[in-house]
Amino acid sequence: MALQATVPAGLDRKETEVYRQLDPARLPQHIAIIMDGNGRWAKRRHMPRVAGHRAGVAAVRSTVETAARIGIHALTLYAFSEENWKKRPKSEVEFLMRLLSRYLKAEVPTLSRNNVRLEYIGRQQQLPADVQERMAWARESTARNSGTILTLALNYSARSEIVDAFRAMLAAAAQNGGIDHLHIDEERVAEHLYTRGLPDPDLVVRTSGEMRLSNFLLWQLAYAEIYVTPTLWPDFRGLHLLEGIREYQKRERRYGGLQEIDVPQL
Ligand code: FPP
Repeated sequence: MALQATVPAGLDRKETEVYRQLDPARLPQHIAIIMDGNGRWAKRRHMPRVAGHRAGVAAVRSTVETAARIGIHALTLYAFSEENWKKRPKSEVEFLMRLLSRYLKAEVPTLSRNNVRLEYIGRQQQLPADVQERMAWARESTARNSGTILTLALNYSARSEIVDAFRAMLAAAAQNGGIDHLHIDEERVAEHLYTRGLPDPDLVVRTSGEMRLSNFLLWQLAYAEIYVTPTLWPDFRGLHLLEGIREYQKRERRYGGLQEIDVPQL
């Protein structure tokens, strides 16, 4: 493994230690994270669940900064699923909306200092109007940044995304000569997903030890390496991201293929 002599500016001592064990030429291009465990973090401290969400913001900040510092092309965070929106108490949903709004307002300068561009995936049109306005403002404010693309999945469901992609393909076909002219292949489906333009994630991280994808990027994660850490999201930091990347670099990615040498003679 080629070892890196120069460590990116801004990493702390522990992060530097892990970064030195990485091969900078094989960093994942796109990392997706299922942020989980906020409620359990709060419960362990005899605090209300929302205190876990509030504490989760520091984890978001640290993770985004470290990803940006080491030059990760894209980072996608599962902040809020469609199921969360429908099945959680109204008061918790409202708290999450306020937290998101406040996060966007407070973080835009830091995102820009780190050259991070903000994007969103999910059915945004169903979010409260004032939150949508704040989201549009934050996206516009960071649109000219050329570093890490930070995508927040908000009111997101992978199955809904695939349904929306098929609806969009059908609508386009209706305008272009009708359904007889509709040609569907993998590339065409990918072009109609919310993530169009982004490479598929190489690595998906899930915190709090759960072994599920929970309806997150089901199409895009087809070949991703999965890294599950017991760390609860509010305790997650850039250091843990680097540990996940270290684990990723130990894996052999085969995309369903095998080397000739693996096949015994009959
Ligand atoms: C999962 O924990 C977490 C969420 C549903 C919300 C994620 C929100 C944040 C990390 C904070 C704000 C984010 C941004 C982008 C500003 P859970 O409540 O399901 O935890 P549990 O499984 O322990 O109950």
